[in-house]
Amino acid sequence: MQIKTKTTTLFRCTTCDTQTPKWSGQCFECSNWGTIEEVSTIKKDGEIIESAVITPLQNIVSQNKNRTATGINEIDRVFGGGIVPGSVTLLGGEPGIGKSTLSLGIAALIGKTNKVVYVSGEESGSQIKLRADRLGVTAKNLFFIFEQDINKIIKTLEETKPSLVVIDSIQTMVNSSSSGEAGSVGQIKSIAGILTTFAKATDTPIIIIGHITKDGALAGPKTLEHLVDIVLSFEGERASLIRFLRSLKNRFGSTDEVGIFSMTETGLAEVKNPSALLLDDNNHLASGSILTCLIEGVRPFLAETQALVQRTSLGFPTRRATGFDAGRLEMILAVLNRHAGIDLGGYDVFVNIAGGIKSKEPATDLAVALAIVSSFKNKVIKAQTIAWGEIGLGGELRTATATDKRVSEATNLGSLQIIAPSSANSLTLKNPLFKKVKSLKEAIEMV
Ligand code: TYD
Ligand code: MG
Repeated sequence: MQIKTKTTTLFRCTTCDTQTPKWSGQCFECSNWGTIEEVSTIKKDGEIIESAVITPLQNIVSQNKNRTATGINEIDRVFGGGIVPGSVTLLGGEPGIGKSTLSLGIAALIGKTNKVVYVSGEESGSQIKLRADRLGVTAKNLFFIFEQDINKIIKTLEETKPSLVVIDSIQTMVNSSSSGEAGSVGQIKSIAGILTTFAKATDTPIIIIGHITKDGALAGPKTLEHLVDIVLSFEGERASLIRFLRSLKNRFGSTDEVGIFSMTETGLAEVKNPSALLLDDNNHLASGSILTCLIEGVRPFLAETQALVQRTSLGFPTRRATGFDAGRLEMILAVLNRHAGIDLGGYDVFVNIAGGIKSKEPATDLAVALAIVSSFKNKVIKAQTIAWGEIGLGGELRTATATDKRVSEATNLGSLQIIAPSSANSLTLKNPLFKKVKSLKEAIEMV
């Protein structure tokens, strides 16, 4: 549909805003003299549209605001180099994953030099104190508010003027002048609106914690994603000690950033080199295990792929994948049968990416296939072998993204051989550890 537009000239009184199609010396509404000015407008279906202000890029002043850094590289990187004044961050994650622990850690680091207010609607003072003692938190500028009424909280924040506010959690806050129960979508939106207005008006950064479950059962905070500046997701398997802090949206930095932590008795510890830990451990002599290199955000990350293949004792064979797509596992088994002559029709197959790590990348295919073959033939793969590559239905291997990055990570960490497909012009072909493979069959023969 085409909208018919027509440029017309309109006049407006600068005092009372009355509009008129003709210029006159005196405003007929407010009787002031010399206040009528010309404004050019576009008329569409009787509606008057004023033109927007247009500014050349070079005249725009960039506000490179001073970021507050925690000093912990894994956190600061995810925030885009520190916390920006007036920024609103939504920190989402499953209940019990460690959001409060992480936020208290951030609050304590910033609270060493700046005033930080931690608002808890969830835990009592003694609970927080217990956690703080366990984490060894001693920040003298860290204050607490135990309250759920958002209007009272805002009033206190206006008086206190902190440099950082943590809200734990948005689901427990209530706005008495908005309808609905605490945690309802309406309440969550109105509270987020109040917090955002406060953040922007006072230049105070706020971290809002929101519980989000995998199945979206507590989806309230998801509706805030467009409202806030930064969306961080704190993830990991409950049983595992590794936690990922992922940036899903960042108006002040790049997304794709991932901070990696390990959970300890005394809180979260940053894992600067997650791969190195893994390689040191990969000296065991069991079959069914091989390392692979994943890309987490923009970082290469080594993970151990394990498989267990055993004869099915009763009924249909079981196929189970943990940390890997079950559909892809079926596909790999079909390709192994058709193009490598390995028929696992009468066998149970279990695949696991160790450490509670989840791979969403097809590049993990090759490691999964090799681990399965290793377990099936009960042959140990040479320790510190790293493999990756996407398996095609014809048994061919496809080159993964960021091959050079993965190869240099594997090499730097002391891998002994690297098996992966690669494009012909890749730099990695010069690396003596790198063994280029074109098909699944070729890779199986190599290990
Ligand atoms: P918590 O921070 O309360 O999770 P959330 O706020 O996301 O619901 O952490 C859950 C539990 O895990 C809590 O009992 C403390 C414990 N924990 C540790 O012992 N060490 C750690 O490093 C972390 C992150 C948590
Ligand atoms: Mg909590």
